[in-house]
Amino acid sequence: MTRGAPGPSGADRRAIVAVRPTREVLQEVPDPRQLLSAVERDRAAAFRYDAHRDDFVAAHVLVRMCAAELVGGRPEDLTVIQRCSSCGGPHGKPVVMGHDEVHVSWSHAAGAVAAVAAHALCGIDLEPRADDVDAALVDLALTEREKRLVESSRRPGTALLRLWLRKEAIVKTGETSLDAVFSLDVTDAGGGVLRTRTASGAAGRSWAIAEHRSATHLATVLTAGGVTICLHGAETE
Ligand SMILES: CC(C)(COP(=O)(O)OP(=O)(O)OC[C@H]1O[C@@H](n2cnc3c(N)ncnc32)[C@H](O)[C@@H]1OP(=O)(O)O)[C@@H](O)C(=O)NCCC(=O)NCCS
Repeated sequence: MTRGAPGPSGADRRAIVAVRPTREVLQEVPDPRQLLSAVERDRAAAFRYDAHRDDFVAAHVLVRMCAAELVGGRPEDLTVIQRCSSCGGPHGKPVVMGHDEVHVSWSHAAGAVAAVAAHALCGIDLEPRADDVDAALVDLALTEREKRLVESSRRPGTALLRLWLRKEAIVKTGETSLDAVFSLDVTDAGGGVLRTRTASGAAGRSWAIAEHRSATHLATVLTAGGVTICLHGAETE
């Protein structure tokens, strides 16, 4: 994990980003679950499989590490709250209590976790690498332009995954819903900027983007508001 620098105005322009194996995160903290709230611990306890529980706990720990670095505090002093805007349940878009200016996001999948904390809207998504193409996902979630990009790619599975990561990261910023993001075109990315397009082709919002590849996973992080993303091992398009 690396850092951006404070902006010329003195405003903190850092996006603290980390993408790590679950095991590594859990080994770094003596008692990872003690960092979580009682609500989070209850959610963790409800997982059927230990591996899924470990991913969940590691992601909730990692986001505290990122947020603590951003605000100059300690992970154990941060309380993360989730409240679903649909059902009111303890899931959905997270906030850090007492730090209204801080936005956070995380992702957990198959032995790896990713997290981001920034003073701007941000979203991060992580998935295991895949070579196959999920035809149902292509039909459901891609625009015509995105479908053509996947079809013409030498590695269509990876092309699909990269588009899907962008879409899920956008959803996690809170900017749009999962349904709405299906018709948002996310093919136009270059120079570290993702320029979205609406179904009618009109220019949508632009995001700073960075992608991270490990041997097993791909991750994508997006931020708004001129925040510089500094991601260890990142490939900026
Ligand atoms: C956001 C979403 C795309 C991510 O799902 P995913 O790829 O399966 O899982 P990831 O591990 O990458 O991300 C999960 C994290 O996304 C975040 N998240 C979930 N819903 C979110 C939302 N609506 N907005 C922002 N962030 C959200 C949470 O931090 C969650 O962490 P948790 O599972 O530990 O609570 C998926 O949860 C979604 O589609 N949510 C919207 C629909 C929904 O959940 N409705 C519930 C109605 S009761």
